[in-house]
Amino acid sequence: MFNGKSTIITGANKNLGKQTAIAFAKEGSNILLHYHSPSSADETEQLAKLLINDYNVKAIIYSGDLSQEDATIELFETAIKAFGKIDYAINNVGMVLRKPLYSTSLDEYNKMFDINVKTSFLFLKYAELKLSEKGSVVMLTTSLLGAYTDGYSLYQGAKSAVYWMCKTASKETQKKITYNCISPGPMDTPFLYGQENEHRIEFFKTQAVEQRLTAVEDIVPIIKFIVKDGKWMTGQNLYANNGFTAPSA
Ligand SMILES: NC(=O)c1ccc[n+]([C@@H]2O[C@H](COP(=O)([O-])OP(=O)(O)OC[C@H]3O[C@@H](n4cnc5c(N)ncnc54)[C@H](OP(=O)(O)O)[C@@H]3O)[C@@H](O)[C@H]2O)c1
Repeated sequence: MFNGKSTIITGANKNLGKQTAIAFAKEGSNILLHYHSPSSADETEQLAKLLINDYNVKAIIYSGDLSQEDATIELFETAIKAFGKIDYAINNVGMVLRKPLYSTSLDEYNKMFDINVKTSFLFLKYAELKLSEKGSVVMLTTSLLGAYTDGYSLYQGAKSAVYWMCKTASKETQKKITYNCISPGPMDTPFLYGQENEHRIEFFKTQAVEQRLTAVEDIVPIIKFIVKDGKWMTGQNLYANNGFTAPSA
């Protein structure tokens, strides 16, 4: 159970972030729900009400562009002000682009690294400064880190940077905080469909033992495990994809 715990979840209004928020609240954690796009205000408000009414936890909302340092500081300070402390911080922020490197613009490169890498740098930095002793940080990376494929050079490069910053932060912690990444396989959310065609989606399914895409519900229990029972593990990247890819030994 997460009774008495406080959790920050970024991108908590939809998809993986939303299901993680519900799962953590169900177990008794107070939650700060972060969302990015202003158009997500109403749905996040509805989610906060649901968590408060159904699970009797505190749920607050923070909206901001987390590639900005001020916003990231405010994210953590808002949670501390409301809950008194932060135990867990789970970072879903990301963007993906599938395009050959030779036709990618510098603007696309900058956006990719701002949204995946700069946000993660700031999140990791302020997590170390603001979390409680023995807290846990979980960063979302991708199973594409274990794939040799076309089209994802910037996404793989950016998530690879997230992995290494997270790993090194785990060695530097002054508070015995655990830092781990989780790398889902192709996951059944609009994030994936925006980049892929039907043919490739069908191929991805064939690569899983269960012949289907990763579901957000496959990933949520692993995030719970990382922060709770898996506390001896730090600096790791868990490939959770039912056989889609694996890192080399
Ligand atoms: N779906 C997949 O196939 C898959 C597979 C492996 C790993 N992942 C990773 O899993 C994580 C969650 O993905 P998902 O599929 O659940 O999609 P998602 O809900 O779209 O998650 C991405 C989140 O990042 C937010 N975001 C983008 N730019 C931001 C910024 N500047 N500041 C703050 N937030 C920002 C988005 O908000 P807005 O939409 O409002 O901008 C969105 O909430 C991502 O990190 C992704 O890379 C996804």
